[in-house]
Amino acid sequence: MGSSGRIAIRLILRDSNPAATTAYSLLPEVNMPKCSNCGFIFRYDKCPRCGTLADVKSSPSEMKPSVSQKEENKSDLNQFFEIACSITTTSDVDAVLKKVGSAAEKLTLTMASSIMLLDDDKKNLYFKVASGDKGTILTKLKVPVGEGIAGWVAANKEPLIIQDVSVDPRFTGKIDSESGFRTKSILCVPLIVNDELVGVAEVLNKIDGSNFTENDKAILTSLSNFAAVAIVNARNISNQQNFFANVFEILTNAFESSDRRFSGHCFKVAQLSTAIARELNITGQQYKDIYYAAILHDVGFIIEPEYSIMEHGTNKIHPLNGFEMIKNINLLKSAADLIKYHHLMYDGSGFPAEGLKKEAIPVGSRIISLVEAVEDMRFSVYPEEKIRQMVESQKGMKFDPVIADIFLKISE
Ligand SMILES: [Fe+2]
Ligand SMILES: [Fe+2]
Repeated sequence: MGSSGRIAIRLILRDSNPAATTAYSLLPEVNMPKCSNCGFIFRYDKCPRCGTLADVKSSPSEMKPSVSQKEENKSDLNQFFEIACSITTTSDVDAVLKKVGSAAEKLTLTMASSIMLLDDDKKNLYFKVASGDKGTILTKLKVPVGEGIAGWVAANKEPLIIQDVSVDPRFTGKIDSESGFRTKSILCVPLIVNDELVGVAEVLNKIDGSNFTENDKAILTSLSNFAAVAIVNARNISNQQNFFANVFEILTNAFESSDRRFSGHCFKVAQLSTAIARELNITGQQYKDIYYAAILHDVGFIIEPEYSIMEHGTNKIHPLNGFEMIKNINLLKSAADLIKYHHLMYDGSGFPAEGLKKEAIPVGSRIISLVEAVEDMRFSVYPEEKIRQMVESQKGMKFDPVIADIFLKISE
């Protein structure tokens, strides 16, 4: 790979993720010398595996990597890329951490790996991912901070290399006795996010029985940055979901509480609207928009306290109020339009009267308007059979015929 290619890669990574840039910058250089004795690729003046001095004449600029060496480095680089992409494209933190673990094993030439996270009480580490047949057994175990090698790294927030665990008093062997794996050597590094420890990552036993090197430590530290970013992303997503769930509950409680008989209306509308959306094979962001719009469809009543929510079938202001309240929230922008038209009927009747009709009305609004009408009739204690007859009779008029058929099918 030429230097221009490397520059391009650095820029892409820097744009997408600072930690990924750090990780890439610690990759073994493409033009690194290869040990003339054991063939190990290294960046130092002495081979860290067998101790043979590097050939000083073979400076990186003079050396031409062999085809197989180029392929090896390309494969290593691909692994870093794959993990960097996973972090930005998936919210599945377990999947990313598994990739980090297997890349760590491959790049450090080791037999096993694990990633442990710190408990909420910060007193214990628990296995998040562990390789090997007994990996699932390990995920049930906890390691107190300060105990064993991983516990020492967590307590001291420093990387640690133990070339022979049998002579290190910190090694307890407890995990080995559970897993059946025989640890000979360990490289363990802390996972740190914003100066705060979130866990540790470790690789065990070099495949060829050699010692761990500073290069191995640099690789594992780089990969740990990926793991840390994945954990932060997962936490951010979880916090965001928690925020939305609570804000929605506060908002719906606020306007539903004006009349106790109305309690649960928004949840029922969301439940039926999303059931219809699923039948229409609506997925992804469009599905989320329908859920958000359905749960918040009557939010406009909050700023019109003089109106009772009981008037929601005839009150023409609340859809526009709701739209105005929601439209500036970036994450709910698309849902705002659905709220605006949730009392607009398929034939253009209803409100707001802007000339929209049939398929020009967003599908989410067509769903919610039918559900709103159905819930209205249920609130007025119409028998279910009568509601079904009303929907049937208004197919193609007030109600989208496809959506009406889905309602009639799922309400049987
Ligand atoms: Fe409603
Ligand atoms: Fe409404």
